[in-house]
Amino acid sequence: MSAARSILKYYPFGRLSQLLDGHAPGDPKIDLPGLAKGAPVLLSIGEPQDAPPPFIAEEMAKAAASWSRYPPARGTPEYLETCAAWLNRRYGLPPGTIDPKTMILAIPGSREGLFFAALAAMPERAANGPAPAMLMPNPCYHVYPGAALAAGAEPVPVPATRDSGHLPDYAALPEAELARCVLAYYCTPANPQGAAASGAELQKLIVLARRHDFILAVDECYAEIYTGDPPAGALQAAAALGGSLDNLLVFHSLSKRSSAPGLRCGFAVGAPNLIAALEVMLRTGGAGVPFPTLAAGARAWREEDHVLANRARYRENFEIAERVLGNRYGFRKPDGGFFLWLDVGDGEAAALTLWREAGLRVLPGAYMARPGPDGVNPGEAYIRVALVYGPELTEAALNRLSEVL
Ligand SMILES: Cc1ncc(COP(=O)(O)O)c(C=O)c1O
Repeated sequence: MSAARSILKYYPFGRLSQLLDGHAPGDPKIDLPGLAKGAPVLLSIGEPQDAPPPFIAEEMAKAAASWSRYPPARGTPEYLETCAAWLNRRYGLPPGTIDPKTMILAIPGSREGLFFAALAAMPERAANGPAPAMLMPNPCYHVYPGAALAAGAEPVPVPATRDSGHLPDYAALPEAELARCVLAYYCTPANPQGAAASGAELQKLIVLARRHDFILAVDECYAEIYTGDPPAGALQAAAALGGSLDNLLVFHSLSKRSSAPGLRCGFAVGAPNLIAALEVMLRTGGAGVPFPTLAAGARAWREEDHVLANRARYRENFEIAERVLGNRYGFRKPDGGFFLWLDVGDGEAAALTLWREAGLRVLPGAYMARPGPDGVNPGEAYIRVALVYGPELTEAALNRLSEVL
């Protein structure tokens, strides 16, 4: 089978189209200003629906003359220094932990960084050696297995279920599995479950990565969307372990923080050798971040007001969910992110019913996961519901959801 066909098997939205597109959507019966009567409500995709802050367009316009230039390889010094300053503020890092010149790379988004990290992690293949493995939570964001397959590694799904606190326990894997691991993806706060790792857990992971010499690729793209205290970050954990970023790559993005997924602006931070390798991949097969985008992005990493407003809006949505759902479907307020991960018994059947009866499009949890060695798909019982709209539509949609299920 071609790599593209293998990757497609992990692509949840293709599978969702197959499940739903042959069926007419039901009427959501939601009557709100600005919403077309009877239009389906798309709760399947994690795309922020709030407008990005107006300064993004202003900064892009101011820098428009530089559209004629190719994007710089790493980012501009202003962008890299602004990202380092934000990291220092957000994670309280000791001065000198991050050298913006060697430890940060501008990337279009965490998706591109995560993908190219897999290519960069591949060893030159010994003819008869074991296949390199890449660990990932199960369920997870589909780009992790897609990237592993594109790189020619074996994706190894590790349960991230209620029993493991919705995060994968890589330390519990057999030594042989850890020995052939070249990269481990880790997401905190996690998509889809919303669980955030503690500083101690992140420290343990970094130690494990160093012991077995694999790259720990930590996806922190939801780091700014949280319901309680700010989630710990892998850089904080590295600082607590002495400050070295060896074996560590961390990914941040403005897509969720600034509701600007179309901007394509983020950064990777990590050990200089890993950042250099990632840059080679990005230069070879990707697009760097253009000058006007870097100018707008630098402003977005400096400003906090719009982020506070964003976070407050998602918090309000989770309060609505708590009020409407109570403790049904195993609901618990997530630590971060903007998804509900609801145990509905049979996620695929529930997604079909919600679509046909109420025009609500949600993602069956099974589409984000793979069956384990026991044949059980850990996402099977769940649906993922993206709470990306304003409070009125969120409340109306959740009321409809609980009415129909
Ligand atoms: C877990 C996770 N990682 C990465 C991304 C990619 O985001 P971006 O490339 O826009 O930063 C997403 C987007 O939905 C995501 O859910």
